[in-house]
Formats: sequence, C-alpha cells, structure tokens
Amino acid sequence: MNVLSVTAEIFPFVKTGGLADVAGSLPKALKSHGIRTRTLVPGYRSVVEALDGATPMARYDCLFGEGATLLAGRADGLELFVLDAPGFFYRAGGPYTDEHGVDYPDNWKRFAAFSFVASQIASGFVQHWRPDIIHAHDWHAALSLVYVKYADAQIPGVLTVHNIAFQGQFPAHLFSELGLPNEAYSVDCLEYYGDLGYLKGGLQAADAITVVSPTYAREIMSPIFGMGLEGVMNARHDDVVGIVNGIDVDVWDPSADPYIAYQYSARTPLRRPPNREALLELFGLPPTSGPVFASINRLTWQKGMDLLAAVVDEIVAMDGRLIVHGNGDAGIEHAFLDAARRFPQHIAVWLGYEEPVAHKIHAGADAMLVPSRFEPCGLTQLYALRYGCVPIVARTGGLSETIIDANVAGLQAQAATGIQFSPIDTDGLRLALRRALKLYRHRRIWEGLQRQGMKTDSSWHLSAARYAELYGDLTATDMRLAG
Ligand code: ADP
Ligand code: GLC
Repeated sequence: MNVLSVTAEIFPFVKTGGLADVAGSLPKALKSHGIRTRTLVPGYRSVVEALDGATPMARYDCLFGEGATLLAGRADGLELFVLDAPGFFYRAGGPYTDEHGVDYPDNWKRFAAFSFVASQIASGFVQHWRPDIIHAHDWHAALSLVYVKYADAQIPGVLTVHNIAFQGQFPAHLFSELGLPNEAYSVDCLEYYGDLGYLKGGLQAADAITVVSPTYAREIMSPIFGMGLEGVMNARHDDVVGIVNGIDVDVWDPSADPYIAYQYSARTPLRRPPNREALLELFGLPPTSGPVFASINRLTWQKGMDLLAAVVDEIVAMDGRLIVHGNGDAGIEHAFLDAARRFPQHIAVWLGYEEPVAHKIHAGADAMLVPSRFEPCGLTQLYALRYGCVPIVARTGGLSETIIDANVAGLQAQAATGIQFSPIDTDGLRLALRRALKLYRHRRIWEGLQRQGMKTDSSWHLSAARYAELYGDLTATDMRLAG
C-alpha cells in the first residue's frame, strides 16, 4: 500500500515540536506492515539541501503567484516529495513565523499552495506512483483533503490532529483565492465562525480523523479543550480514533546515543550517574544530594511553564536543581532568567532549541517536569522514560495515559513509572515536587521507577499497527464503494 503523508515538519530536517518527530518516525515503523510512505514537505532551505538525488517531477510557473518545482528524493531513509518554492519557503525565520515570532502574513497562501500540490499527487499527478491513502497532519496540510474532495480522482483521506489549538483561521475574503468551488465555503466545509478554517475544512473532508491520544480525542469533544471545534468533533464522533504516538527508539537510545558522555541501558544503570555530573557541570550548577529536575519545553501557557516558574522556591528549599531548556513567551523566559539570577546555585536556564542538549538532559536529570495545561500526546515524557529520567506530569491528555502514577497500587504492582498530578495549578505542582522528593529519598523505590520506565515499550510497535489497520479499513471501504 502507498501512503502520501503531508506535513509541514519532519525530523531531522525541520522541527518545532513533536509533529516533526511523528512525521519522521511513523513511515519507518509502517514499513514492516507493507506500507510505503512518501512524505510531502515544504521546501524550506534545510529540507532542499538535505535531499539526496533530487528529481524534478513538475514545474509550476505560477503557483499561487510563485514559481515552484516539485522535487522527489530521499533523505535520511525517508522518501520525500519537496515543494521547492523559494518565494514561499526560503525565509529568515521559522516554518510559520518570522525572526520576531510573528506569523507570516501569507501563511494562508503558503499552506494552500502546499496543500493544493498534495491533492495533485493524491490524484495521480506523479508518474509511476499513485497513493492509496492521503494522510494529512494538522492545519497546515488539512486543506489538501478539501482539495481532494473536490478533485476528480478521489482517494480516502486521514487527518491527524496533533494540537487543536492551532487551527489555521483566516479572513473569509481569501476564499476566492483558493480555487475551490463556491460550495466549499459552507458550514459543512471551510466556513468557520464567518472566517475560513483550514483545520475545520480538513476535519469535515477527512474520511477518518486520528487524534494523538485516546484521552485527548475525548477531551476535544468538550468546549474547554475543543477550542471552538468541539461541535465538529462531536459531529464526526464515529470517525474519530485516538492513537497514541510512538517514538523512534533508534534516535532515542541511551545505549547508543552519540550526544551523551556515558552510554547506558536498563542493564547497566550504574553507568548513568556520570551523565548527571556532566549535566550539572554543563549548566554550571554545583553537585547536590537533592533531585535534579529538568524541563525541555516550549515556554508557553499550554505547557504550564508559568506554573513551574512560580514554584522554583520549592526546588531551592529542598536543595534540588532545576534545569530549563526551551524558548517561547517573553514573559516566561524572563521569569526563568530572573529565577536563575536569584538562585544561581540551584537554577540554570538555556534559552534555545538544541537537539543534542535535549539528549544530555534526558540522560542526566533525575526527573522530567511536564506540567502542561493540556497535552495532546507529549513525547518528552516518553523520551524521559527511556532514559531513566522519571517523568512528573500533569494529569491530562496523552500524559495521563503514558505514565503510571507512583500511588500505592502502582508501586505495589511494581508498575509505576512516574508521578501524575492534578489539579494543574501551582498547588498541584508543589505537591508533586514534594512527592518526588520523598520517593527520591527512598533510593530503592526511585530506582524501581527508573527501571520500570526504561522497560516501558514506547516504540511505534502497537500504534503503527493501528494506523496500518485504519488504512486497510479505509481502502477496503473505498473499493467496496467503487465496486
Ligand atoms: P510539542 O510538540 O507540543 O512541543 P512534544 O512533547 O510532542 O510537544 O514534542 C516536543 C519535541 O520538541 C520533543 O522532541 C522535545 O524533545 C523537543 N523540544 C522541545 N523543546 C526543545 C528544546 N528547547 N530543545 C530541543 N528540543 C526541544
Ligand atoms: C503536538 C502536541 C503534542 C504531541 C505532538 C505530536 O505538538 O502538542 O502533545 O505530542 O503534537 O503529536
């Protein structure tokens, strides 16, 4: 079976978060199910430069006003289609925002052009390769399913919701620029509170909707989590399935990680502590017998990082350490920088986004803090498990179903892998930190948590099978309808 995956990010070439990790690792896991995935990605400079043996497949003189070439090639074991459109994608900032974090004003056009080309590939536009399924990720690719819906050759479409907070909402007057029939601007498709909703249109046009954890799939049926799209999610209820993300266990493998000083595994836990020392040294923090907490995160409200900034005194009081790596909202960045200035022996902050640093932190820290207010799936806690770094997570979304709380039952069954807390506020987080300290002081219990975490299978093994099954069901239905 051939699948066309459509995504605005893919690891290791362009990444702002977990979407890239999923888009980069799922195709590899699907291979053993006989599924060949080719992924369409925008031609950011980093992607075009990484392509091995790029072959031009089509040339557009005026694609939404820009010249563009569709390239096909391989990179890092992935089969890619790349929409090389320098006017849209060679920019100084990130994939969606400029150097100052402001959305590009033409995002509506950049991702419409991208989605339009995806729909052409889905319709058999590329010689010798025709997909059986088109699988779009998040709002940037959602419009491709709307284009497919109105194209001649129809194939089943899957839309994966990684985060419903990002919806691709644009003024309605742009509709006439999209090249879609008038009927597409209706409540059953793109119309969204009087605007255009790319994610909304995709949700309506998709044959199946996957959400990155079953809990988040339920949560977004309600107004608080659905953020305006709960009505659509409820209407499509029967076609929604929650499939928890897996991780690439080759990229995240403490026994073969090139970024860490001392490699180790569940069988050689005594080789882990030198990484802790190296980490404290890297961040300029003195040794301690207290716990070393860390957070690798977007510094945003969603991630609850303001909550963490507000309880640093708790960590200082227990002579713990806190290492924060991330960037995001200016107010939260300042709060952490200020905390590091006030408590230089206890808190260190590295504003930025560095893959190698993230690996070193997972290998060295005692506990990983993920205090998200909402979290569709979350990958950081899964990497932490694999590295023997005990996750402390808010009880929401995918966090609540990937970490087993160290309550009495969890500990007695030797199943616990971390700490869950709620309510998700500063009181809840403070209590979680105190619980962590108690457990940390019982070395046997703490090591049990680490061991259990490292034994957890967070690979794609089970979830790739669910995607394969879904693709199989959709193509079987499609053939029945055609026949
Ligand atoms: P989200 O996609 O919502 O940001 P996830 O937990 O799914 O959350 O994925 C976050 C990904 O981004 C993980 O791979 C994590 O390691 C990575 N990441 C987040 N912040 C940083 C950072 N400052 N430096 C390096 N990697 C980071
Ligand atoms: C989004 C979500 C995150 C999820 C990731 C990959 O960025 O915020 O929870 O893990 O997508 O699906």
